[in-house]
Amino acid sequence: MDYRHAKVSDIPEVAKVFATAIDDIDRKHGFYEKPTLSSPPSPQYAFWLKKNPGAFWVAEDRGQVVGYTFSFLRGSLWFLADLFILPEHQGKGIGGTLIKKTLGSWRERRITNRALITPAFNRASVSLYMRYEMLPRQPVYFASATREAVERGLQDKGVKELEVEEVKNFRAASPILDKAHKLALGIPSGWHNEFFFEVLRSRCLIFRKRGRLEGYSFVRPNGRLGPLVVRSASSFAPAFDLTMQAAVESKAEKVMMFFPGTNRGAVRMGMKHGFRIDYPLLFLSSRPMGDFENYLFYSPGLM
Ligand SMILES: CC(C)(COP(=O)(O)OP(=O)(O)OC[C@H]1O[C@@H](n2cnc3c(N)ncnc32)[C@H](O)[C@@H]1OP(=O)(O)O)[C@@H](O)C(=O)NCCC(=O)NCCS
Repeated sequence: MDYRHAKVSDIPEVAKVFATAIDDIDRKHGFYEKPTLSSPPSPQYAFWLKKNPGAFWVAEDRGQVVGYTFSFLRGSLWFLADLFILPEHQGKGIGGTLIKKTLGSWRERRITNRALITPAFNRASVSLYMRYEMLPRQPVYFASATREAVERGLQDKGVKELEVEEVKNFRAASPILDKAHKLALGIPSGWHNEFFFEVLRSRCLIFRKRGRLEGYSFVRPNGRLGPLVVRSASSFAPAFDLTMQAAVESKAEKVMMFFPGTNRGAVRMGMKHGFRIDYPLLFLSSRPMGDFENYLFYSPGLM
């Protein structure tokens, strides 16, 4: 087995490893619905190579990519974004070796916490991460609702507790988003907002309360929302409603979110807007972190 940094030409194979491994584990646990598309590959892979090429590793067996991993740093928080191995190559130590490689890529940097999100039902991944002292801290759920259900939820009341500004110029807004992120979570927002805005073409809303910066959210044209970041839990519900309004305007068939199970605002608002849980995951970290009442993730690999 060879371990090396990923290259642009690996991206189609990396996307296939992801699709094969996730479909396999979903099938084994009754969560499989339809094949995961690997072509065209998610644009996140090319973005990772642009931003942190040193932390993107592949495992190669006789010229074939059989596994890959990527991690990023947010301040002193290390986050394992992806780790996937082809089913026939699992259980042979490749996953463990790739974790060491991508963690080692950051050895010059100060790391005070390590975290990731993994399917809650994957015994192999949960136990592998526990060996690296990353322990389950928070259940996280993918959930979705029809646009009609979300729209009905919006009709109950017109929330005007927050002022909202839509970002048109990302460069100008970027320091404001970063400030809101630090106020909410105590860590910088990194390059992910650039990806949401410039690659995924998500709408970005900034929230203020009587002129004071409260947070921000993103909504993709396909109805996927997140991250949603607010500095105080009391702003979560109004920020969520304003984000739902933007999701409804997208005209996407479904609205999708990825919420921490202990976020009371997300649970309450999710019920109001008709969300149903699709997929259970777990957030693991080496130390307790984050105020999950103030936050909705975008995905298991992008915060
Ligand atoms: C999770 C995954 C990345 C691990 O990679 P891998 O190459 O199979 O992992 P390794 O062989 O290095 O280690 C797996 C360890 O888990 C252990 N394990 C497997 N099933 C287990 C169980 N039910 N309970 C406890 N430990 C278990 C293995 O025995 C092995 O430990 P060992 O080397 O001490 O015996 C890989 O299985 C995979 O891609 N799974 C599907 C996709 C996925 O869920 N990825 C994680 C997304 S974050």
